[in-house]
Amino acid sequence: MLLTVDGVTAGYGRLEVLHDISLQVAEGEIVTVLGPNGTGKTTLLRLLSGALHPWSGSVTFDGTTLGRTVSERRAALGLCQLPEGRGIFQTLTVGENLDLGTVSGRGSAEDRRRDKERVLGLFPELSGRLDAQAASLSGGQQQMLALGRAVMSRPRLLMVDELSFGLAPRVVSDLFQVILDLREGGVTFLVVEQQAAALRISDRTYVLRNGRNQLERASADLLRSEDLVSSYLRG
Ligand SMILES: Nc1ncnc2c1ncn2[C@@H]1O[C@H](COP(=O)(O)OP(=O)(O)OP(=O)(O)O)[C@@H](O)[C@H]1O
Ligand SMILES: [Mg+2]
Repeated sequence: MLLTVDGVTAGYGRLEVLHDISLQVAEGEIVTVLGPNGTGKTTLLRLLSGALHPWSGSVTFDGTTLGRTVSERRAALGLCQLPEGRGIFQTLTVGENLDLGTVSGRGSAEDRRRDKERVLGLFPELSGRLDAQAASLSGGQQQMLALGRAVMSRPRLLMVDELSFGLAPRVVSDLFQVILDLREGGVTFLVVEQQAAALRISDRTYVLRNGRNQLERASADLLRSEDLVSSYLRG
């Protein structure tokens, strides 16, 4: 397994948000975590990216138990996150944002140039706008930029928090296609969503409810039981 979360409990202050959560992601998989508003999805990703530490239980990435490992070290190991709200720098240009995605010390200047070319190949809409301010992009283009920037850091496992939020279905389909392309290129994904659309691109799905594991299924099976999924997502 590339990522194993084993019986993790965590929260903020005295508030316990995640109760005994377990999940696994194998190399090359796209795994969805689905759950209604406020169920702890972002908290789970904060825990995996190192912004929050488990009260009990463990997180193992590629054989290394992460414990209190800091975020920068996790990113250097290849465990990277595309945060909720995109996290791009609005006043910088598209090109500058991409350059910031590079993990310092990884690869030569030539590698970075090649990475940037590859990213721009994935997102033709960005390549013509390298000098434009990020703030001038549409919501969908900003999400592409955020994804492109994350790819610049050469992730092994990329965690994506609500990629589809506020975007038109066509734009979401384009972004999902890029995720499929990136998986072909060897990136593993943990995709957190409130909506069932991500089931179409993922292999397996975990449903969380109230900070607990509710269900784990092949995504194709869940797609066939829409009523079941919508009942879980009502909260
Ligand atoms: N920094 C924080 N301090 C205290 N409580 C928090 C904090 N962040 C989140 N919470 C609480 O933790 C619970 C889970 O929140 P979280 O943001 O992880 O949910 P979510 O599943 O990502 O929701 P959404 O789908 O709305 O993004 C909520 O009850 C929320 O109020
Ligand atoms: Mg969230």
